[in-house]
Amino acid sequence: MSKYIASIDQGTTSTRCIIFDQDGAIQAVSQMEHEQIFPKAGWVEHNPQEIWDNTRKVCAEALAQLDLSASDIAAVGITNQRETTVVWDKNTGKAVYNAIVWQDTRTDKICQQLAGSEGPDRFKAKTGLPLATYFAGPKARWVLDNVDGAKEKAEAGDLLFGTMDTWVLWNMTGGTNGGVHATDVTNASRTLMMDLDTLDWDDDIVAEMGLPKSMLPTIVSSSEVYGKVRERGVLAGVDIAGILGDQQAATFGQVCFEPGMAKNTYGTGNFVLLNTGEEKVLSKNGLLTTVCYRIGDAKPVYALEGSIAVTGSLVQWLRDNLQLIKAAPEVEDLAKSVEDNGDVYIVPAFSGLFAPHWRSDARGAVVGLTRFAGKGHIARAALEAVAFQSKEVVDAMNADSGVDLTELKVDGGMVGNDTLMQFQADLLDVPVIRPKITETTALGAAYAAGLAVGFWKDEAELTKQWAEDKRWEPQMSDEDRTRLMAKWSKAVQRTLDWVD
Ligand code: G3P
Repeated sequence: MSKYIASIDQGTTSTRCIIFDQDGAIQAVSQMEHEQIFPKAGWVEHNPQEIWDNTRKVCAEALAQLDLSASDIAAVGITNQRETTVVWDKNTGKAVYNAIVWQDTRTDKICQQLAGSEGPDRFKAKTGLPLATYFAGPKARWVLDNVDGAKEKAEAGDLLFGTMDTWVLWNMTGGTNGGVHATDVTNASRTLMMDLDTLDWDDDIVAEMGLPKSMLPTIVSSSEVYGKVRERGVLAGVDIAGILGDQQAATFGQVCFEPGMAKNTYGTGNFVLLNTGEEKVLSKNGLLTTVCYRIGDAKPVYALEGSIAVTGSLVQWLRDNLQLIKAAPEVEDLAKSVEDNGDVYIVPAFSGLFAPHWRSDARGAVVGLTRFAGKGHIARAALEAVAFQSKEVVDAMNADSGVDLTELKVDGGMVGNDTLMQFQADLLDVPVIRPKITETTALGAAYAAGLAVGFWKDEAELTKQWAEDKRWEPQMSDEDRTRLMAKWSKAVQRTLDWVD
């Protein structure tokens, strides 16, 4: 019997393949970064061909580390940066334009036009989302409006639309030779075109979006066999059996299977997801309603989500643009070189502000500068910005659900940062808990794939695999917490209405 599951994590900055064993333990990891393309202010693109090439290479390399062949792999799971959009020609397999990344704000005008006099919540009751540049549908519309000949080709049925899960799945299952054109419910729920009740495309919204229906992938569950790996290579013949957007995958990997359970992932951005069970809760406080997962034919499980665009990428910005540090982990020592933030606040509204504000016209600000401020204060303010933004969305979640969060499970690249985790527990006033396996995104997709092929029996078996590694208890006084949050809110106000 095959002993492993291969999980492909196609993320914002890199693509990885992680091999998990039956205990959910990591046995091999291979990772490749791809280019971040910034053609103009507010625009962010990836080269989809580079990403697909990297996907093949990391799979080959991960299997090679253990000297495995396809027969050792029970199934493949795919997880991905969500919303990032590719439009490609189904006859040639070539993208007609670069992938437009979730952080890209070029669709602001399209979103405003779609909102019309009804405002940004026009499609919210059906899709759970406000009309914002973050989501996929308007990005595909931009491609049809701006790439020569794209609209005509789309209308002739030659172009396909997909988020990165769809792009990877189509290529893996044969591409121009009969590739499967599908997306799972969690990714589809980020397009602004899926009805959260029917779990199908909403014809009226699709028509408003200006996309021919023939471009859209079939919506499937998060855990079922979609097809076999067809392209030649190390995984040839293996079932692809799980797809989840990366934040939903992390929620699944953190075994947040019960309503009321929540996680926060500290990646390029931060994403807090609260499982609301079979109930679809519409937010009154700036959160998204999204599909958390759907296992085969079971009823879908929904989530409330607080999406924050810029957290880990703020540290990258300190490294790459300001050159304050040489490597991202150095930010912690620099932050600890000062006693406190020296009254400096950074609001990293590089892509406007996401939850709970949804202001694409906001732009970043560093406020509270005096001659006293040094690079230690900037580093500290950057770390604190991650925690302040997470606190804002958890407050919104408490208000929406009427129940206060009692603890927060965390994962992602920044959870090794003790200073940040302690400050997060202090601001939230609840314990922050890190699991032993922090690669929860890849793990969640592996779990979904493994459930579909009987590699794991059920959710109870997965729950037993979760183990706590470390917890941070809150230590801050109420008075300090209130003072800091008031200052943060003042700083946020300074970023609004910047774009003319
Ligand atoms: O919605 C965007 C999110 O899926 C990106 O996640 O981890 O690639 O930054 P990440």
